[in-house]
Amino acid sequence: MPDRPYVIDQMISAKMIAARIEELCAEIQAEFNGTDKLVVVGLLRGSFVFIADLVRELDLPIEVDFLEASSYGDAMESSREVRILKDLRGAIEGRDVLVVEDIVDTGHTLHHVVNLLRSRAPARLKSIALLDKPDRREIDMKADWTGFEIPDEFVVGYGIDFAQRNRNLGYIGKVRFT
Ligand code: IMP
Ligand code: MG
Repeated sequence: MPDRPYVIDQMISAKMIAARIEELCAEIQAEFNGTDKLVVVGLLRGSFVFIADLVRELDLPIEVDFLEASSYGDAMESSREVRILKDLRGAIEGRDVLVVEDIVDTGHTLHHVVNLLRSRAPARLKSIALLDKPDRREIDMKADWTGFEIPDEFVVGYGIDFAQRNRNLGYIGKVRFT
């Protein structure tokens, strides 16, 4: 499929992303005000750019950890069945946790991860997704904070890939086959 030629049309600029992250971080800071330490959990690999910008904007004592769940593979459709490929390094019992996801699409991935982490008895558990595609939802799941709601388009950039490509774009663009 990645052999099919495509172009990328810009949808959300780097400037818009930066401005939105400032707003989101003000809200996250208010929510976790007074925390002794916030464990920021990035879902690999798509959230790695978002989490890097997010934590540098957060004026809170934080720790960073990562978790990898299975996703699309190289396809453009969700597999629905979620497996944990790499678990957290640290324990989160009694801790404040913020889960960071790139996109909530069908909702299965975030739903699975939030339930898993909740079973470990964190003090507070919140989630944030850079993008949300509400049209594609299959289960009732929404992140506590969302950067941008987008239509049902396949997007890349700012950490998000199409068959592992285009993660290094500074903006979010939609894939258009030519
Ligand atoms: P869900 O389980 O269907 O909500 O899928 C969420 C995961 O699918 C996200 O973490 C992304 O990795 C991936 N995904 C969803 N939409 C896109 C897209 O438009 N481009 C690239 N990856 C996507
Ligand atoms: Mg993902």
